[in-house]
Amino acid sequence: MSEIMEMLIRRGYLWQSFEIYGGMAGFIDYAPLGNNLRRKIENIWRRYFVINERAAEIDTPTIGIEEVFIASGHATSFTDVAIECESCGRVYRADHYVKEKLGIEVDETVEAVKEVMEVYDLKCECGGKFKDPAPMNLMFSTTIGPGRGKKGYLRPETAQGMFVDFKRLANFFREKLPFGVAQIGRAYRNEISPRQGVIRLREFNQAELEFFVHPGEKKHPNFSLYANDVVRLVDKFDNEHEMKLEEAVEKGIIANQILAYFIGKTRRFLLEIGIKDEKLRFRQHKDDERAHYATDCWDAEVLTSYGWIEIVGIADRTDYDLKRHSKYSGEDLSVFVPYEEPVKVRKRKIVPILSKLGPVFRQKAKKVAEALESLNVESEPEEVEVEVDGEKIKVTKEFFEVQDVEEEVVGEKVIPHVIEPSFGLDRITYSVLEHSFDKDVVDGEERRVLRLKRWVSPIEVAVLPLLSREPFESKAMEIVQILRENGIFTDYDDSGSIGRRYRRYDEIGTPFCITTDHQTFEDDTVTIRDRDTTSQVRVKVSKLPEILKELLRSERDITEFGEVFRQV
Ligand code: ATP
Ligand code: GLY
Repeated sequence: MSEIMEMLIRRGYLWQSFEIYGGMAGFIDYAPLGNNLRRKIENIWRRYFVINERAAEIDTPTIGIEEVFIASGHATSFTDVAIECESCGRVYRADHYVKEKLGIEVDETVEAVKEVMEVYDLKCECGGKFKDPAPMNLMFSTTIGPGRGKKGYLRPETAQGMFVDFKRLANFFREKLPFGVAQIGRAYRNEISPRQGVIRLREFNQAELEFFVHPGEKKHPNFSLYANDVVRLVDKFDNEHEMKLEEAVEKGIIANQILAYFIGKTRRFLLEIGIKDEKLRFRQHKDDERAHYATDCWDAEVLTSYGWIEIVGIADRTDYDLKRHSKYSGEDLSVFVPYEEPVKVRKRKIVPILSKLGPVFRQKAKKVAEALESLNVESEPEEVEVEVDGEKIKVTKEFFEVQDVEEEVVGEKVIPHVIEPSFGLDRITYSVLEHSFDKDVVDGEERRVLRLKRWVSPIEVAVLPLLSREPFESKAMEIVQILRENGIFTDYDDSGSIGRRYRRYDEIGTPFCITTDHQTFEDDTVTIRDRDTTSQVRVKVSKLPEILKELLRSERDITEFGEVFRQV
């Protein structure tokens, strides 16, 4: 086990699920500190992708009925190729096994895998022969209701809940594009061989934004916010670029401003939560790599001890999902987009002659007339067919006239396109922890320190009595109470020497330790110690909440706030 993983388990960040029964690959528990860290990351995500967009967040079931996933294509296309050993029965995800054993990339198709297996005479780790490769659907299926019930699946992405609700959502946004819909929640994938610890889970957390735009839209109104950001890009031909997003759009490396906007925004979000810029890149999917619904996709990848891993996928899903759900549900999932100015169009129209329709079609005459008016014709037909209450009726030319008219058209119906930034919160949380993990030497001793950004640290402040006895303890508890009332995540610890306690809080990433000491009882002051520099300042207890709040939302140095007590 890696050093960081050992620490995360021991200190209460992440635990193996079902540990007392031997555990199960692909599942983790968020222990108290990990849970708080992930929640804080979620809240920052919300600020970026919901509050600061024209967007709304919804929450839909994690179980979906079969129809949803037939329409979305997941029931047929959401597969990985699996290979099973004839002797020991172990099953592997083919592309991962080939990469691990042969060091080569293989297309995720049964044919390609079969060819590689034959050419390289690929064997199982036990030495056994493999059966023929076969696709395996990654969705967990279930039954809804008793008896035979109804077939359902655990959702493999939160996205479908948002597409299925599109009609109501469009109405909520008064049919005005663009708008975004976000969802944070669990997703489930029955991964074939999840051997990468916390990276490949069978139950994981996604934060997804579906950003609905007019199909012809290539610009984002706020692109200028990120246009000058310099980003590391790897395009689909494996060319690396380090350039401004504006230049990447101009050169056609990124297809449009909307994708570039979300690449820029994703990067700023990741930096804010503590991902290291020098270990972050955006990689475009190759043509044979994309999911069944996407025409373009850029992944945010970070460098970790597992190598480069994908933590965010930013996909252009076009109108794929809305069109499919429209087809399978029979609902019109378009929005009406008014033109800036009404346009005049010449149309050839059928004008019904009511005096002739009446005597022949009687009570149906009005409906026949309406149906005739809605027809578009190009020539002067001898006869047309209309449908009235499900009945097809032929109408000959003595019942209508054909006229050329000029009509004013005020807008058009369109099926919006979707740009989707999809965040894997578990991989992000883990990567933040890895990128924050550090070692240095303090007072001649090696120290392990988690340099988390102050605003994501699960325990923000620890209050420590210098000595584990009265009156240091009561005073410390009093301060704990004040800080908690001020909404600060505060811990109290009186066990062991003060040095050991500081080291414990450094290891879990607590940015500030407050200590009550002898002087506290002389002038009502305490010391604040900074995790990163280990410097200390002395401040008045009455000023503490205000100072800590400012420190926790900024990167200001503690020496700005009080008399230096210990400078390092
Ligand atoms: P991979 O190629 O690694 O299997 P993917 O391309 O299938 O991933 P996406 O379908 O793009 O991943 O999923 C969107 C995001 O959800 C990813 O960027 C990732 O952060 C996260 N994610 C996907 N699968 C898992 C998983 N099994 N465990 C944890 N997070 C996952
Ligand atoms: N919604 C994108 C994904 O889960 O892959």
